[in-house]
Amino acid sequence: MEKDHGVLSDHSAGIEEHEIETTLRPQRLSEYIGQPKIKHELEVYIKAAQAREEALDHVLLYGPPGLGKTTLAMVIANEMGVNIKTTSGPAIEKPGDLVALLNELKPGDVLFIDEIHRLPKVVEEMLYSAMEDYYIDIVIGEGPTAHPVHFPLPPFTLIGATTRAGMLSAPLRDRFGIVEHMNYYTQDELTKIIFRSAKIFRTNIQDEGAHELSLRSRGTPRIANRLLKRVRDFAQVAGKQSIDSAIVKQALTLLQVDDHGLDEIDRKMLLTMINFYHGGPVGLKTIAANIGEETNTIEEMYEPYLLQIGFISRTPRGRLVTPAAYDHLGIAYPTDKKQ
Ligand SMILES: Nc1ncnc2c1ncn2[C@@H]1O[C@H](COP(=O)(O)OP(=O)(O)O)[C@@H](O)[C@H]1O
Ligand SMILES: [Mg+2]
Repeated sequence: MEKDHGVLSDHSAGIEEHEIETTLRPQRLSEYIGQPKIKHELEVYIKAAQAREEALDHVLLYGPPGLGKTTLAMVIANEMGVNIKTTSGPAIEKPGDLVALLNELKPGDVLFIDEIHRLPKVVEEMLYSAMEDYYIDIVIGEGPTAHPVHFPLPPFTLIGATTRAGMLSAPLRDRFGIVEHMNYYTQDELTKIIFRSAKIFRTNIQDEGAHELSLRSRGTPRIANRLLKRVRDFAQVAGKQSIDSAIVKQALTLLQVDDHGLDEIDRKMLLTMINFYHGGPVGLKTIAANIGEETNTIEEMYEPYLLQIGFISRTPRGRLVTPAAYDHLGIAYPTDKKQ
């Protein structure tokens, strides 16, 4: 059964959301807000590759969903002035699928593989020589007529995206010359993204409104854009000419997104840990089972942000709720717990 993951959902993104993401996507590095270290490095690598008239080295982007990995892959192709082919790990089921994709590449083109940690093993192994020396060896035909064919490829750039670099095998990871870890965005950066999106939507938003929204977007541009859309609806129905902080607060209270950007699933998770496990330590699987969510969803979408804002901590024996989270939820920290 499809689960509804509330406002944070990545899986329930419908066609409308897809279209909106496309229109909101920055096209150039100069429009890409935040991630200054990554931008600066890429600028250098892109310039150098262009000066040498070579394909850019393979790039691995990793970090939580919604931080701009797909967007950045497209920006890189744009800056290089090449075509980009987009696919995802689970979509490439067999070696033949990969051959078909590689076959279409022109020199310098980008092949973007989203969720690259979900690539089947046989496909992954074919990528090794493709990435390293731009060729693949395939077997054509079956039985007695089967024969190996050496298939040269044009120089190309593989851009892989993953929410968890740790899930990549070492041989694959090692073949990426450029590895970038995407960070959560600061409030300032999110505010800029919100203003930029509001402009594209032709919506007025006040400074305090944008600030309030940035606080509740969990450091994530996708969430900032999604919440902006919802708040815009509330403002419109309320007959407001521009989005102020009052309408942001009102709308997000209704959407059950609190002033730290936590939604009902975050709260369910923390309250389960507090009420049933005395604040932990408790294993992630146990938490997931208790609140009826997939362990993966918790691990990729919820836990990283709660860790980032210091509401849970990781110990060898499991996850712990921190005093800051108790405080946020208005629950007294148990006096019998060691700090
Ligand atoms: N640095 C950025 N500047 C402006 N908008 C961004 C930025 N990063 C992401 N976005 C917006 O957030 C949305 C989600 O980004 P996306 O690249 O799809 O994330 P990911 O692939 O990491 O899940 C995009 O539609 C884009 O509009
Ligand atoms: Mg993506």
